[in-house]
Amino acid sequence: MKEERTLYLCSECGEGSAQWLGRCPACGSFGTMEKESKHYTAAGAHAGGREPVRMDSVESEGPRLMVGMPEFDRVLGGGAVPGSLVLLGGEPGIGKSTLLLQAAFSLAARGARVLMVSGEESAAQIGSRARRIGSLHPELLLLCETDVEAVLGAAQKMSPEVMVVDSIQTMRCRDVDSTPGALNQMRESVFRFQALAKETGTVVFLVGHVTKEGILAGPRLVEHMVDCVLYFEGERFDAMRILRAVKNRYGSVSEVGIYEMTDGGLREVEDPSQYFLDRRDEPVSGTAATVIMEGRRPLVVEVQALVVPTRLPTPKRVSTGMDHRRLAIDVAVLERKARVKLADRDVYVGITGGLRVSEPALDLGVCMAIASSRQDRTLPREAVFIGEVSLTGEVRPVSKLEDRLREAARLGFSSVVVSDRARRGLAAVPAKLIRVRDVRQALAAFDVA
Ligand code: TYD
Ligand code: MG
Repeated sequence: MKEERTLYLCSECGEGSAQWLGRCPACGSFGTMEKESKHYTAAGAHAGGREPVRMDSVESEGPRLMVGMPEFDRVLGGGAVPGSLVLLGGEPGIGKSTLLLQAAFSLAARGARVLMVSGEESAAQIGSRARRIGSLHPELLLLCETDVEAVLGAAQKMSPEVMVVDSIQTMRCRDVDSTPGALNQMRESVFRFQALAKETGTVVFLVGHVTKEGILAGPRLVEHMVDCVLYFEGERFDAMRILRAVKNRYGSVSEVGIYEMTDGGLREVEDPSQYFLDRRDEPVSGTAATVIMEGRRPLVVEVQALVVPTRLPTPKRVSTGMDHRRLAIDVAVLERKARVKLADRDVYVGITGGLRVSEPALDLGVCMAIASSRQDRTLPREAVFIGEVSLTGEVRPVSKLEDRLREAARLGFSSVVVSDRARRGLAAVPAKLIRVRDVRQALAAFDVA
């Protein structure tokens, strides 16, 4: 077999032939036809080319590097993979630098060599912040630099296991002729950090600023080049933050981590449902509990509604944390299908904790909270409402109901209101199920019709 495939190539012009010839048929040179294998390896060695390898002989990545912050590690897919490039995106001021500073500290405290590179802030600023939130460690080094070559040089010298680059928009390659933040600058910088990561096994975290209107062109481009994209989100004036994986070559993208921004830095919220409920005051009219899904995670949240007489010809419908069109629909359904009079009322609806919820399973909780406020009657504290409401007023079943029920039961909710079409035999959930056909029935059952 092998013999058959031997190819002879002319060392002068590159002409190939299946058999050895004394003279090249193309250029006419004598004695220049050589066996291909020789040529091939020589050329391959020159180009630094790689040989294909047996896939079953490939070793998987080394053990993961645990950051030591359980929420962060979970979102990464169970720690960071050596040699991977992770982009952390988020709006300016949301806490990206703080999060990575704390992660860097935690890694250093676990024995990793960590290099923090900042092109954003001065060493004094970062140092005093680190001191304030208790994130100083001898193995945690800081370099304030925007020149990529200089950064790579420093990395070569100290060969860190983890490097943080804050931010990719401030990095500049000398040989690229444009300002930092320009697309080709970012592409080239990421490319070089990627090369460093792959060659040395360093985990590289890149910070990328993103604006509210959407994602800057840069980070979008960068997203394709990295192994893992995390987003850090939240409302600026609320302390709650969500860390979310939107791309992960080494894990699931439905993981989320919940954080609270405090004076002493970010705090991981291990039991978010409890966290949201702890903020709940005494039972008041206009509040209803529901269970939403954040990725794979069920979260108990509270919907708050305020219904007040309007002075305007067109009453207001204002929502925070949920889609305003969805609120308009819920209000219309309440009016037409459940005869709750709202035409002369302003309706305000919010979700606790600054969460942004876009799933329809929120509908029933929203309707209940509005009706409760409208009638000024409280709903029982131990009840939770889970269902989508259709335009006909019908309460529809939702996805992942079992997970939601378990979470509600875990937090001590003893009655759960669901669609009468929800699957039978929802096994072993220690809560009373109240099945309702439509919104009207739900309102009547709780005396807020
Ligand atoms: P920062 O990490 O600098 O945000 P980013 O890097 O995403 O731009 O954090 C910004 C905000 O976080 C800042 O306005 C103040 C607040 N913060 C606290 O509330 N507590 C703290 O301990 C720290 C370090 C920051
Ligand atoms: Mg920052």
